[in-house]
Amino acid sequence: MSVRKPVVLITGASRGLGLEMARLFARRGAPLVLTARGAAALTAATDELGQLTEVVALAGNVADSDHVERLVRAGEERFGRIDALINNASTIGASPMPALEAYPLDLLAEVFAVNVAAPLALAQRVLPGMRERGEGIIVNVTSDAAVQGYPGWGGYGASKAALEQLSRVLAAEIEGSGVRVYAVDPGDMDTQMHREAEPGVDLSDLPGPEIAAPAFVQLVLHERAPFGRFEAQKLLVVAGWEARA
Ligand SMILES: NC(=O)c1ccc[n+]([C@@H]2O[C@H](COP(=O)([O-])OP(=O)(O)OC[C@H]3O[C@@H](n4cnc5c(N)ncnc54)[C@H](OP(=O)(O)O)[C@@H]3O)[C@@H](O)[C@H]2O)c1
Repeated sequence: MSVRKPVVLITGASRGLGLEMARLFARRGAPLVLTARGAAALTAATDELGQLTEVVALAGNVADSDHVERLVRAGEERFGRIDALINNASTIGASPMPALEAYPLDLLAEVFAVNVAAPLALAQRVLPGMRERGEGIIVNVTSDAAVQGYPGWGGYGASKAALEQLSRVLAAEIEGSGVRVYAVDPGDMDTQMHREAEPGVDLSDLPGPEIAAPAFVQLVLHERAPFGRFEAQKLLVVAGWEARA
């Protein structure tokens, strides 16, 4: 990426990993384009981050194609471009998560709309500009549920497996364009999503998202080689580089 500060679009930036990444980019002065559904939490995040950098924030659902268009357009109008897209927003579907034997198919469609179709829609929207500039990065946040057979995690896990494959194929399709594509697993974190995924389970021994966030920022800013496993963060780059170990 050029010397200028990259314009970074992060979905799901109102809490958890998305907010931690946004905080780190903001400290580096990178202009931010942020979204999440809940307007109050997004406004609180914007107020905080706005002390450090320029922020465009728009509340809405990433599964809504009109919202995707409004969001990217708002970022482009304010900053002229999107250099990095981090598809971080995600849903587990329902809490507790239903076993596959009784998994409601409309819920499965909802999970795939948020976790698979929305990241692709955002990628499709930002790719032409990135291709034109000959640089850019798309990071899709995945999970080990994509490759492990955890009971109850089938709907979410299948969507993350689809997101990883989509990342892998997209990386191959745009090879040589200068645009990098990764699927990155941050490892287990104590966040709202994880607490909803495992209600009643004590997750206090898990690291917070601030442990994984720096590696995402370093990957975007070319400060870290995208090798397989970043031991400390349990961060795993799946697509565009090497397969999960
Ligand atoms: N926590 C873990 O252990 C873990 C492990 C592996 C991978 N991950 C992945 O890490 C990423 C971040 O998760 P997290 O644990 O940080 O979760 P989190 O703390 O619950 O944060 C999720 C964020 O996404 C937003 N969001 C959810 N659905 C959305 C939608 N349809 N449209 C727009 N925004 C939406 C949420 O805000 P609103 O609800 O207001 O929309 C929130 O800002 C996810 O991709 C997750 O799959 C997490």
